[in-house]
Amino acid sequence: MTYGFDQAEAAGRFVSLFGAPAERAFFAPGRVELIGSHVDYNGGHVLAAAIDRGTYVLVRQREDDRIRLVSSAFPEREVEFGVNELEYLEADGWASYPKGVLHFLRRRGYRMSGLDFLFGGDLPIAGGLSSSASIEMATAVAISSLANEPVRTMDLVRTAQRAENEFIGLKCGIMDQLASGYGRAGRALMIDCKKVRQRTLPFDDAAMKILLLNTRVDRGLQGSAYNDRVRTCASAFKKLKAKIKGVTCLCDVSPELLVRHAELLDDLELKRARHVIEEEQRVRHAAAALDIDDADWFGQLLDESHRSARDLYEVSCDELDLMVELARSKDGCFGARLTGAGFGGCALALVSPESVAQVAVEVCAEYRDRTGLAAEAYLCATGDGARAIALPTVPTVSAPNTAQGEGS
Ligand code: GLA
Repeated sequence: MTYGFDQAEAAGRFVSLFGAPAERAFFAPGRVELIGSHVDYNGGHVLAAAIDRGTYVLVRQREDDRIRLVSSAFPEREVEFGVNELEYLEADGWASYPKGVLHFLRRRGYRMSGLDFLFGGDLPIAGGLSSSASIEMATAVAISSLANEPVRTMDLVRTAQRAENEFIGLKCGIMDQLASGYGRAGRALMIDCKKVRQRTLPFDDAAMKILLLNTRVDRGLQGSAYNDRVRTCASAFKKLKAKIKGVTCLCDVSPELLVRHAELLDDLELKRARHVIEEEQRVRHAAAALDIDDADWFGQLLDESHRSARDLYEVSCDELDLMVELARSKDGCFGARLTGAGFGGCALALVSPESVAQVAVEVCAEYRDRTGLAAEAYLCATGDGARAIALPTVPTVSAPNTAQGEGS
C-alpha cells in the first residue's frame, strides 16, 4: 500500500489530534539497493542510494510523560505509552519501529519528555524500499534534535539498526539505516559493511533513471525466511573459517577459496555462500562501472545479480521475476533486479531518460494482464539523508462569508 503525505494537511491534522501545533518537522528517506543482495550482514560491500521519498514526522513535546504515536498510513492504530513503558508489545504493530528507537535511545541516556508524533510519507509499505529504516531514522533524528544533544549520524544509524535487530527481531545488516542517514542527492553510497563506513560515488540521475516497479506482493520480511538466510550464511562461514586463515566474514572468502573448500559445506550452504561471494565481486565491478559512467556494464551486473538472487539465494518470487523480465525486454532498460530483501516488493530498473515513461506504462500494463495485480511504478531520484525540515504551516480555515451569501 502506498500513502501520500501532504505536509500542510498533516500540520492541520496534528492540531486536531493533539490540540496544539507541531514544534518541529523531520524527514528520513527510503533507499534503493542498487546492487549487493544480502551481502551487508556478511560483511561485504553494497551500492545503495537514498531516494527522494521517505517518512515525514511532525513532533511536539508534551508537559506530561505520555508518548503518542499516530501514522497517516494506519490512522486507526494510534499507540500511546509512558516514557518509562518502552518495552516491546506485539499489539503495537507499526509503532514498534519508532518505539524500538525510543527504547534504545533512552537506554543510551537520552532525556525524553512526553511527545506527540504524527508520521506519514510516500513510500510503499513493505515494498523493499526501507519504509521501516526511514521511520526509525526519522524518529532518531527527531529525538536527538529535540534533546539538543547533537550526536553523530552513525550513532543514530546503529541505534536504528539495533531497534530492528533486537526490538523487531529482524537480523538485518546496516545498509538501510546507513543509506537513510547518509544518502546524498546525486550520489550513490558504496558501503563497506564490515568496517561500517561509506564513500560516495557520482550517480547521474539525468542519465540513468531509477524506476521502481512494485509487484504489490507484500514481503513477510519479519517471517523466518530472512533470518534463515542469515543463519545459513553464519553456519557456512563457521565451517570455512575453521580451514581458511585470516577471514573475518563470509565476504572475505574469495570465489577461488570457496571452490577449493566446497566440500566443507552442505548443498544449501554452498549455494547461499556462492551467491554472497560472487555478489561481492559484482558490487566491486559495479562501483568501477559507475566510476567510468558505463551504464551498460552497470546494467549487466544488475541482471546477473537478479539471476543469482533468484537461483542461488532463492529470495525472488514469480512476480519479481516477471517484473524484471518485462522491464528487461524494453528498449532503453540498462538492467533490472529485485531490490532489498526480496520475496516480493519492488524491482529496480535503470532506464534511459527518453524511454522511462513508456517503459513504466508498458511494464505495469503487461504485468497487470499477466498477474491481475495492480502494479505501481515510481520514478525516483537520489536524495539527501535524514534531516530536520521546515515546519509546514497549518492551513487557515476561513469563516464562510454569510453577508455575501445572503445577498446573492
Ligand atoms: C533488507 C535488510 C538489509 C539487507 C537487504 C538485502 O533490506 O534490511 O539489511 O540485508 O534486505 O540485501
